[in-house]
Amino acid sequence: MHSANPIGVFDSGVGGLSVLREIHKLLPHENLLYVADSAHAPYGDKSKEYILERSTTIVDFFVSHHVKTVVVACNTATGAAVKEIRPTISQTIIAMEPAIKPASERTQTGVIGVLATSRTLSSNNFQILFARFADQVKIITQACPGLVEQVEHGDLNSDKTRALVAQYIQPLVSQHVDFIVLGCTHYPFLAPLIQELVGSSIAVIDSGAAIARELKSRLDRAGILAEPHHAGTVKFWSSDESGTAKQVISQLWGGDVDVNILPERVLA
Ligand code: DGL
Repeated sequence: MHSANPIGVFDSGVGGLSVLREIHKLLPHENLLYVADSAHAPYGDKSKEYILERSTTIVDFFVSHHVKTVVVACNTATGAAVKEIRPTISQTIIAMEPAIKPASERTQTGVIGVLATSRTLSSNNFQILFARFADQVKIITQACPGLVEQVEHGDLNSDKTRALVAQYIQPLVSQHVDFIVLGCTHYPFLAPLIQELVGSSIAVIDSGAAIARELKSRLDRAGILAEPHHAGTVKFWSSDESGTAKQVISQLWGGDVDVNILPERVLA
């Protein structure tokens, strides 16, 4: 694998852009490929088999683009597909883990909250992570149906989004959490709203920056970090053919970008 090869990053939709922006910030010389599988979002509603099939198809697409590493910027796909896909490709796969460890180490109240999709909360990965910290801190988990869809629409502050967020944080606030862990990559786009509603005494954290650091250290160890001679490129694909992908991705990325529709073989 060559240092000039790109890195493939994907999510069930636009949520993984919250991870991509951290990667781009930390590794500005890397060429990044991003796939938003928005036509199939949310993954949280789908079976494990469905998510595994979609994830495998997208990873194959990346492999055909000669990626040097894959980042699964989706907690739900991490829980449903990464274990199965890892042995099938030679590239390293970096996957998500909700930031329960840093929250557990820093909490003063001894109570932390986790917002995630139902599928992530019921996954084996999450159960194992939960069990590692459950004897040190009280962990309150809250599934958030509907939030992924709001972010997919770029709807970060409407009455409906505010009402959903208020409903989901209420059980955490009433149990005196001092950390809220965002266990879904769509939710960092709602962090300003969550922070506004919970107030400054509760820290709202996610894993994007930690994933970027992990990626950097893995590339460094393998000797395949991009050479610092030129600015890296970022290319976007979506499975959403409705015409809104460009608008939402540009909004969340913070600048006008071109978005390609995935080729037919990757769309279905
Ligand atoms: N961004 C995905 C995650 O981190 C959303 C999952 C979904 O599509 O349900 O879990």
